[in-house]
Amino acid sequence: MLNGKKILIGIGGGIAVYRVAELARLLIKAGADVRCVMTKSACEFVTPLTFEALTGQEVHRDLFDLTSERAMGHIQLARWADAVIIAPATANLLARLTHGIADDLLSTIMLVNDKPVLLAPAMNVSMWDAEATQRNIACLQQRGMVVIGPESGELACGEQGAGRLAAPLTIKAAVTALLCEQSLVGQTWVINAGPTHEAWDGVRILSNRASGRLGALLAEQACMRGADVVCIAGPGTPATNADIERVNVESAQQMLAACRQYAAGADLFIGTAAVSDFRFADPQTEKLKRGELRSMNIELTANPDIIASIAAMPNRPKKVIAFAAESSNHIAYAKSKLVNKKVDAIVANDISNMGSDQANGWWISADNEVSIPSSTKIAFAAAIIQHIMELA
Ligand SMILES: Cc1cc2nc3c(=O)[nH]c(=O)nc-3n(C[C@H](O)[C@H](O)[C@H](O)COP(=O)(O)O)c2cc1C
Repeated sequence: MLNGKKILIGIGGGIAVYRVAELARLLIKAGADVRCVMTKSACEFVTPLTFEALTGQEVHRDLFDLTSERAMGHIQLARWADAVIIAPATANLLARLTHGIADDLLSTIMLVNDKPVLLAPAMNVSMWDAEATQRNIACLQQRGMVVIGPESGELACGEQGAGRLAAPLTIKAAVTALLCEQSLVGQTWVINAGPTHEAWDGVRILSNRASGRLGALLAEQACMRGADVVCIAGPGTPATNADIERVNVESAQQMLAACRQYAAGADLFIGTAAVSDFRFADPQTEKLKRGELRSMNIELTANPDIIASIAAMPNRPKKVIAFAAESSNHIAYAKSKLVNKKVDAIVANDISNMGSDQANGWWISADNEVSIPSSTKIAFAAAIIQHIMELA
């Protein structure tokens, strides 16, 4: 989603600087070209080396640096960026930006900049609540800057309240939304993800190798395009950003109940979850003992077919997309599922994709059958969203 996007991170001098390193890493992983500008105070908390190593780029610090000015000075840095993130946006930076003070490299760049700006404030709760800070932030918002956070909770200073830097994943989602075409605004998408855990006894489960990564990526990418997204997440599904409504479930039956509840009347349902076909007929709450047993027969009961159940609901989503992970005859199995489950399209993929960062497969609908070449799961998810948007 951020492939080739140029993002300038302006790093202020707050205790949360160390969390911005994770943000830089996430942005780079999503394909962005990241450059960092640190204030003098920021360098008191973390050395520029951290950001230089993460981005592979020089970290800009000085306004009066001849070499930098010749290579990429304050004007060029502002022109270069597609978007600017200020994180942590200190109370001091907010004040300087509000008043147009240009007394260091970052504040001078900000006076030149005409690209979208995301402010991620982080500070002590009283600094945040201070009338001056609140006036400044309101003024910057009025000028079109987007403010993300701060979040509430325990602060680095030990006090409680609003002041924590928004989670790096949330900041990444917000900047992607800033840079991304908002083609799904007004739509509700429900996506299930991950494996299920079917309890056998107090400690043992029946499950599979699904990681939930693809479902989480689809949820994230739909959210970044403006959709309201609910992710029904099986155990181990990666973290999703705060704008995604997340419902954690364990078993297939819990997943079915949550999917039916949220999918009713939605615009789209995507079933990426690797739902266990069976559950234990007689699960125990205590831990079972092996004792003298040399073998054991266990009775399994078939689990409900979640996709077919969603597709058969009277108030079913306008579109239902299924996934089929197969070990052979992918296209033939997928085509029969397309008909039997009465879904609008199906993504056939190989079981070897499970748990991996790579994926490949086929998009199959009533009038279309195309291969989605091998790529990272991020690119695979983007290709699927593109096919969904083209679905008549
Ligand atoms: C240990 C320590 C932690 C600080 N944490 C924050 C913070 O989280 N947020 C903030 O706005 N200021 C914080 N400050 C104050 C800023 O560092 C100070 O206002 C500085 O002038 C900010 O400079 P800058 O905005 O140019 O980066 C902290 C100061 C110290 C000594």
